[in-house]
Amino acid sequence: MRCLRIQYLHIMNLQLPYCFCFFLLLQLPFSTNGQAYRNVSLGSSLTAASGDLPWTSPSGEFAFGFQQVGDAGYLLAIWFNKIPERTIVWSANRNNLAQSGSTVQLTADGQLVLNDQSGTQIRNTAYLGRSGAAYGAMLDTGNFVLSGQAGDTLWQSFDQPTDTLLPTQNLNSGAQLIAPYREKNYSDGRFKLTLQRDGNLVMNVTAYPLTASNAYWSIGSSIGSGNQLFFNQSGYMYLVARNGTILDQVFSNPVSLQDLYLRATIDYDGVFRQYVYPKTASGGKNWPMNWTTLPKSIPSNICLAISFPFGSGACGFNSYCKIGDDQRPSCRCPPGYTFLDQNDVRKGCKQNFISQDCGHPSQETDSFEIQDMLNTNFPHTDYELFTSVDEDWCRRSCLSDCYCAVATFMDRTCWKKRGPLANGVTDPGISDKALMKVRKRNRIEELAQKKSAKKSDQSALIISGSVLLGSSIFLNVLYVFFTNRKKQKVIPQHHAMRDMNLQNFTYNELETATGGFDEELGRGSFGSVYKGVLGGDDKQIIAVKKLEKMAGEGETEFKTEVKVIGRTNHKNLVQLVGFCNEGQHRLLVYEYMSSGSLSNYIFGDSRPNWHRRMQIAFGVARGLLYLHEECSSQIIHCDIKPQNILLDESFNARISDFGLAKLLKTEQSKTTTAIRGTKGFGILLLELVCCRRNFEIDVSEEHQIVLADWAYDCFKEGKLDLLVEEDEEAMEDMKRVERFVMVAIWCIQEDPCLRPAMKKVVQMLEGGVQVSVPPDPSSFISSI
Ligand SMILES: *[C@@H]1O[C@H](CO)[C@@H](O)[C@H](O)[C@H]1NC(C)=O
Ligand SMILES: *[C@@H]1O[C@H](CO)[C@@H](O)[C@H](O)[C@H]1NC(C)=O
Ligand SMILES: *[C@@H]1O[C@H](CO)[C@@H](O)[C@H](O)[C@H]1NC(C)=O
Repeated sequence: MRCLRIQYLHIMNLQLPYCFCFFLLLQLPFSTNGQAYRNVSLGSSLTAASGDLPWTSPSGEFAFGFQQVGDAGYLLAIWFNKIPERTIVWSANRNNLAQSGSTVQLTADGQLVLNDQSGTQIRNTAYLGRSGAAYGAMLDTGNFVLSGQAGDTLWQSFDQPTDTLLPTQNLNSGAQLIAPYREKNYSDGRFKLTLQRDGNLVMNVTAYPLTASNAYWSIGSSIGSGNQLFFNQSGYMYLVARNGTILDQVFSNPVSLQDLYLRATIDYDGVFRQYVYPKTASGGKNWPMNWTTLPKSIPSNICLAISFPFGSGACGFNSYCKIGDDQRPSCRCPPGYTFLDQNDVRKGCKQNFISQDCGHPSQETDSFEIQDMLNTNFPHTDYELFTSVDEDWCRRSCLSDCYCAVATFMDRTCWKKRGPLANGVTDPGISDKALMKVRKRNRIEELAQKKSAKKSDQSALIISGSVLLGSSIFLNVLYVFFTNRKKQKVIPQHHAMRDMNLQNFTYNELETATGGFDEELGRGSFGSVYKGVLGGDDKQIIAVKKLEKMAGEGETEFKTEVKVIGRTNHKNLVQLVGFCNEGQHRLLVYEYMSSGSLSNYIFGDSRPNWHRRMQIAFGVARGLLYLHEECSSQIIHCDIKPQNILLDESFNARISDFGLAKLLKTEQSKTTTAIRGTKGFGILLLELVCCRRNFEIDVSEEHQIVLADWAYDCFKEGKLDLLVEEDEEAMEDMKRVERFVMVAIWCIQEDPCLRPAMKKVVQMLEGGVQVSVPPDPSSFISSI
């Protein structure tokens, strides 16, 4: 080994201080490890852990053979053979390591196969090489080829890249590099770089539900035209069009391959980097040498680049990403959180304290504190946003809200965020301050001590017996303590209301605003709605809902519901502005929707265009998804129908009247959500597609009376065009019409278990996931 290096140095430097090695050089001009280079002939084989010498390239710089991976097994790989690291640039079985005794063989019929010790072919390596090769060869470029009689290339490792490209290796249309799982673990990881068949070069996260649309980097300008990614011998990497034109440069760091080894690798952290390694210890540099990265890497800041509404971000859930001084990202846990798996920090972090009790959030406020994290944000996880507030307000608001895991504050704006935390990033470019809510540590320890010291709480322990089931005694001690504390500190109701940016109106104020309840906008199941104008500077137009049925019912109930409704904030919901709760009067004040109800819009005289109807469908679906799954207190809308969907001045769909039905507890919502909201949405979707009511007597044929039944019949018979017969725009978009109708049929299944969750509905509508063929909606009933 030592001599090999010296010998090698001499090739490069042409200095000859050691005669012995010079002698070797003269004797064996194409030698490595003392063995003359030769082609790999048919019948040759290598056995893992047998001491077989690998098949090397003429210069000895690259080798093909087995590399041991810890104790886990062997990779059939190609590696840089003249550097101590033996850096792997290609492997055949990264997800299925070979055990000692396994063999790779170039068979007599010219096929390259990898067999385990018993001689059975190891899965996933069938692609290793077609039959018919005359010989194999490890080339000095790092490419292992199988060649035919005429020297033509039948198969080459360059066409099956793993995570690395070498100079002269090109990435072809449709090919991809997949990052390893982590350092020293070569299994497929979370990130990949693909030259898509549509010509775009993209990097995405492999584990996301909507992989295709979640590119965290893409080449941009040349979308649709890239045919090959070239990596040339001066270290330039660029995208080339079918006709050979150079489109975009990916890397442009000039490198002299005479002096340096070069590779481009997508690393386990998701960054695509170019690495160089000096071929000789020139300029007085001493061994050991190292791979160093060239300046440009993509994306330039992975922590900021991976930030989507789905998925965990560049690091795992509940963790945050920070670029270190070495320009590499590291995954860390915020205060109060620890790694799920110390040996695999990218899995994310877990909260190491007991969450706030949502039953009595304000009573527990004192048990929590805020820890500041400067220049930190957790994008896309907020459920509430408050403007014109100060930092202290933001802190208190998060502390008193059991759903709030962290709030971020910037420039008088406060965003409250739910767990699990995602997309966490700390970066000097971020001006938000994250206010992490953590349980005061001392308090817990204090409590435990208190408990063991005193036995006077025994009666309380018995009272909380039901809680004792399924949880530890220690938790119960805490529970008892907090339940007792609640009696000592009662937070006044009006305080809680003030926390929410909701205005508390007097009846008089609303009477004036509506001109004595003069202009009635509509009448719903809960009462009448009137138009009004607020007196402030901006003369905001409002819709005032007088709740008739509510009158006389419990005050706490009203307040609870108003509070829940007031917490929602989504662009597809009608926003609650304020309320009035005075004696018999219960009123809710909403922002005014100038384009009226969806019912008037789609069942009116002229049919609105298809594109707009589609957008409305997406809007309603997203609004419902928010209500069902995302907003802090899950709200079930029991009554989704076109009358309850309003349209703002840009014709965005806004769901109204939500939350007036009972607020459900989180445990119940899963099942109930599916039962109620989804079915109404299915019908609404059909009504939107067809611009007719679900139930219409005045139709040409009897089987068309109920739209849901007719739609399923049309679908079953492959005659969906009947549904949108007179609608040219929809007729031209039949693929989407079909998708929408299929989604609708899934939503209206009589068997609640078959109905998809709103999240799935949204994904199906948007085309992110395939819609499978729905069964007959009433098959459930007919089978009973
Ligand atoms: C490898 O095989 C090719 C084709 O038969 C031949 O041209 C070449 O000289 C061989 N190389 C060695 C080192 O045997
Ligand atoms: C690499 O990580 C994957 C995913 O966690 C795991 O299944 C596999 O066993 C690991 N391989 C090794 C060699 O540790
Ligand atoms: C590699 O590409 C760059 C940029 O197109 C070019 O300037 C350089 O001459 C190329 N090098 C080789 C060896 O083709």
